[in-house]
Amino acid sequence: MTEQELIFTAVSMKRRAWCPYSGFAVGAALECSDGSVFTGCNIESASFSPTICAERTAAAKAVSEGHTDFVRIAVAGSGPDYCWPCGVCRQFLSEFSPDGSLEVIAVDKNGRWESMTLAQLLPRTFGKHSL
Ligand code: THU
Repeated sequence: MTEQELIFTAVSMKRRAWCPYSGFAVGAALECSDGSVFTGCNIESASFSPTICAERTAAAKAVSEGHTDFVRIAVAGSGPDYCWPCGVCRQFLSEFSPDGSLEVIAVDKNGRWESMTLAQLLPRTFGKHSL
């Protein structure tokens, strides 16, 4: 999948977002090393704390299907700023990109985007090497 296709897939996934409380729809498209792509959206809960972000939805789908080597992820939000993953998602993604080479593509509501590696977004990670 090209970068543009991955971004388009993430943007399309905003339609599936379950976000009646924040009204902030997020879509994600995660590419693994074999080229497979897993999608996700944010899913909110009336009791708030069980809410899951779009990135972790996509990551859980990938891992539960046996794909544990993450290469690229596009995250499309609904605000004027680029939708960079929250801290919890950065940590969660780092489990499956321990060298931090995962490319994170953050997309704004107008489809503009910027990219950075996970290592740039989460330096000095706590990982399995730390245990
Ligand atoms: N959210 C995501 O899905 N991904 C992010 O990177 C940031 C935040 C969701 C969580 C919540 O449903 C809504 O956006 C507002 O925070």
